[in-house]
Amino acid sequence: MCGIVGYVGDNQAAPFLLEGLSKLEYRGYDSAGIAVFDGKGIRVEKSVGRLAALRDKIKDNMPVGTIGIGHTRWATHGRPSDRNAHPHTDCSGDFVIVHNGIIENYLSLKEELIETGHDFKSETDTEVVAHLLEEVYNGDFVSSVREVLRRIEGSYSLVFMSKKHPEELICTKQDNPLVIGIGEGENFIASDIPAIIARTRRTYIMNDGELAVVTKDAIKITNRAGEPVTKKVFEVNWNAEAAEKGGYEHFMLKEIHEQPKAVRDTMSQRIAKDGKSIVMKELKWDADYLNSFRKVHMVACGTAYHAALVGKFYIERLARIPVEVDVASEFRYRQPIVDESTLLIVVSQSGETSDTLAALKESKRLGAKTLALTNVVGSSIAREADQVLYTWAGPEIAVASTKAYTTQIILFFMLALYMAELKGSQTPEAVESLIGKLKEIPAQIGETLSDVEPIKTFAKQYGFNEDVFYIGRSLDYEVALEGALKLKEISYIHAEAYAAGELKHGTLALIVEGVPVIALATQKSVYEKTLSNIKEVKARDAVVIGIAAQGNTDLEKYVDHVIYIPNTDELLIPILAVVPLQLLAYYAAITRGCDVDKPRNLAKSVTVE
Ligand code: F6R
Repeated sequence: MCGIVGYVGDNQAAPFLLEGLSKLEYRGYDSAGIAVFDGKGIRVEKSVGRLAALRDKIKDNMPVGTIGIGHTRWATHGRPSDRNAHPHTDCSGDFVIVHNGIIENYLSLKEELIETGHDFKSETDTEVVAHLLEEVYNGDFVSSVREVLRRIEGSYSLVFMSKKHPEELICTKQDNPLVIGIGEGENFIASDIPAIIARTRRTYIMNDGELAVVTKDAIKITNRAGEPVTKKVFEVNWNAEAAEKGGYEHFMLKEIHEQPKAVRDTMSQRIAKDGKSIVMKELKWDADYLNSFRKVHMVACGTAYHAALVGKFYIERLARIPVEVDVASEFRYRQPIVDESTLLIVVSQSGETSDTLAALKESKRLGAKTLALTNVVGSSIAREADQVLYTWAGPEIAVASTKAYTTQIILFFMLALYMAELKGSQTPEAVESLIGKLKEIPAQIGETLSDVEPIKTFAKQYGFNEDVFYIGRSLDYEVALEGALKLKEISYIHAEAYAAGELKHGTLALIVEGVPVIALATQKSVYEKTLSNIKEVKARDAVVIGIAAQGNTDLEKYVDHVIYIPNTDELLIPILAVVPLQLLAYYAAITRGCDVDKPRNLAKSVTVE
């Protein structure tokens, strides 16, 4: 996730570009840059760090000109640095672009372009687009851009600018957002409405495959085939704050709804074209390397720890390698058995959690090989670990983690399959079939999010209870832990998760008439066992809400309500089962009037021990 802006009009471009980018910093903030045509050439200014660093750099020498583009970055390929900041240019500096997304075939394109003499300055995937445009340029800006689009694969919103065509900007999108703001004697381009709302409320929301040529007086939109598209003007009636949250009331809700896209981004580039194997370009492991480990040891905090519990299940089940999981704050103080034969995996959305970082350093000291699963490129944990896998979920703003969790699980699933392939512990047919199911997950999350009304109703009904219990067996138990944490942290309801079979060893004493119990019953292999635990709580007059895969109507006989989620392989179900639990926590917090995005006593990144 990055933010992009463009301006063409009668006024100076730079002030709008900086103002627009400041409204898009929620999309990324590790570097920023702008490019403005000054009548002779295109001046590019960029800087690592937040937008303030760029503002500082140019405050006494603002680029002058009435057409320009800008970018605020959330690194995916290439660490945050001046060089990797956008805008990117071709060799001549005549073509300048900004990009949000991932160019999946950039490595092969880059090799090709280097062979034909192009000189690359950054480590980004984006830079290939500028050089490719230079390579295919035929004198006609639009047809050359179309040729570039035919050759790139992946997701993008892009704005192109050229010294040779100083009156116009070209923009287009595929799987990433893009809007055009309609002004008078000026027009605007942005990733999102907050960037333009102070200048105009009249917009075109671009669809995938559409391409717009934007001048100061005209916006010409065509479809993939080059045919003109007549679009309806979308009048924005949100206030600026709502616009930043994409029209959602809270960042948490926005991020819950971003999950289909976030998990799709995590998978992108990591599945072979034929769908038969997992590609982990970042790792370059072979069977000998993997076999050199006696065990995997995972360390993380909070939600990331819950994701690691699911990761343990995947690696043990699919790759048959023993896995230990520790809470980071406990790990260092129990003299863990970690040495050269340990693969230590740390999981952290922010990449800055101090306990996790300390555990990573301690493990390195003990000789372990280390791998980080994180969301933030260039974070302390990413820099400290020997190897890194990024979740590519985009910035997570709400304190309560949602899309980080689902993307971490997706990444663990892919890592486990990758290990299984190396070890030969699964047949090629089994791997292919699981990859097939994995590819269905983004749409299935979308399906889960399409009807939230029953969940809102339950939240209203049970939002004022003092205690809520979550139960489940096997992977359902790991998801129950995360569901309970979500409820606790944002609604302040006391919530506990129990392995369903453990209830009778003490906790059952707390189950009395009317206590809500969320019973996860998605795991077919332990369904009958879970059912007997559900009967135990029903016999004490608990109110039971079951979570089950579509088709399991049997559960309705034993519980008060059932929330259905789409059916998939048992291993992948946690990614779907957690979604209604996130929503339940969210709507319970709303019912109780809590500050959802900033719960009391909590911080997004815990950088103290
Ligand atoms: C809960 C939550 C926290 C974090 C934990 C670790 O919703 O967000 O429990 O998961 O503080 O943070 P990271 O993943 O940044 O290391």
